Amino acid sequence: MDVSLVSFDSKTASSEEWARFHTFRRIRHEEQNPGDPVTEDATSETWMRRGNPEAEEIRFAAFRHGKPEEVIGWLYFSVYREEAPSYATREKEARVSLQVLQPYRRRGVGRMLLAKATELARERGKSLVIGGTEEADGFAFVEAIGAQVAQRNREGRLYLDQVDWEMVERWAEEGPRRSPRTTLQWLGDHVPDDIAEEYCEVLTESLNEAPRDELETGDTIITPEVNRHWEDSIKESGGRALEVMCREGDGAISGMTAMGYWPDDKTMIQQFITGVRPPYRGRGLGKWLKAANLLRMRQEFPQVTVVVTGNATTNAAMLSINERLGFRKHRDSIMAQMSLEAMDEYLKRGGG
Ligand SMILES: CC(C)(COP(=O)(O)OP(=O)(O)OC[C@H]1O[C@@H](n2cnc3c(N)ncnc32)[C@H](O)[C@@H]1OP(=O)(O)O)[C@@H](O)C(=O)NCCC(=O)NCCS
Repeated sequence: MDVSLVSFDSKTASSEEWARFHTFRRIRHEEQNPGDPVTEDATSETWMRRGNPEAEEIRFAAFRHGKPEEVIGWLYFSVYREEAPSYATREKEARVSLQVLQPYRRRGVGRMLLAKATELARERGKSLVIGGTEEADGFAFVEAIGAQVAQRNREGRLYLDQVDWEMVERWAEEGPRRSPRTTLQWLGDHVPDDIAEEYCEVLTESLNEAPRDELETGDTIITPEVNRHWEDSIKESGGRALEVMCREGDGAISGMTAMGYWPDDKTMIQQFITGVRPPYRGRGLGKWLKAANLLRMRQEFPQVTVVVTGNATTNAAMLSINERLGFRKHRDSIMAQMSLEAMDEYLKRGGG
C-alpha cells in the first residue's frame, strides 16, 4: 500500500485536520473500547492543545495515496524536555503509541510507523522505546517485532450495584478506630499551595513505589508546577478530581488517593493512584482512604455506575484491596519495551 505520513501539530491544526483526526479517533474508540462512552471532540481538542509542557510531543497521521481525507493510522511519540523534572531519571526513553485502523492492518503501516518512531528516537539520542497495548493485534505485533513484554497490567472495573456497601462503611469506620490521631482531608480540584510541596512528595513516592517490573523506566517526579498543570488540564477539559489525603497527629501526610470524572464519560469514573507512605503501612489507611473516597463519590457523582482502574498484575497490595472492594478484571494489557538497536535490526530484516 502506498502510504504517507503527515505531521499533525495540535497547537496549529486546522479545523479540517481536526475533523479528519476525530473521525479516525472515533473509529479507533469503537475498535479499542467498544460500548464505552466516547470523549467529545471539543474535550479531546482542549486536552491535546494543552498537551504536556514537560514533553516534546510529536504526532503523525497516515494516509493512503490519493485519499488525503481519510486517516488510517496514527503515531504518537513523546520524550521529556531537558527542563522537565523527570528528565534526569527518564532521559533515555521515548514513549510511543502506534495505531492502524483494522481494515488496513497487516499491510506494513505499523512497520512504517515504527520506522518513523525509530528515526525520531535516534535524532533525539534515545536508546529505549516504550509503548502499551490491550488489543490482540497489538500483542501479536509486539511479539513479531521482538519487543520485550516488560509489564503485564490489568484493567479492573467496579460495578457499584455489586458493591458490599456495608463492608465499605466498615472500612471507613475502622480507619479512625485503628488510627485515632489520623484525619482525612479532601482536596477537591486543587491542592492548596501551602501543602503542595509535601503532597507532591507523597504523590511522587506513590507513583514510583508502584511496581515497574521489567520496565527500564526511571522515577517520575511530580513537582507542584507539574501537578498544577495536570489539575488545570482536568478543569479546562470539563473534568473534576476527587482527592483525599490522610494526615498523622504530627501533621505529616501519610497517604492519598484520587479519582477523576469527565461528563463525557457519563456513568464511568477513573480511579487514579493510591499511596500510603511506607512507615504508615499495615494500619488499614489504604482501605480507609479508598472506602471514604468511594462513599463521597457516590454522593457527589450519583450518575456513576462503574469505577475503572489499572494495576500491574504484580501489585499484590493494591489488587488485594481492589478485589475485596469488588473490582473485576475487564481486560489484560501490557507495556512493551525495545532498544533502538533491536528496532533497527527488525527494520533492517524487512520485518516479518
Ligand atoms: C499494532 C498495529 C499498529 C500493527 O499495525 P499493522 O499495520 O497491522 O502492522 P504491519 O502490517 O506493519 O505488521 C508488521 C509485522 O507485525 C506482525 N503482526 C502485526 N499484526 C499481527 C497480527 N495481528 N498477528 C500476527 N502478526 C502480526 C507481522 O509479523 C507483521 O509482518 P507481516 O505482515 O509481514 O507478517 C495494529 O495492529 C494496531 O493498530 N493495533 C491496535 C493498537 C496497538 O495495539 N498498538 C501497538 C502498541 S502502541
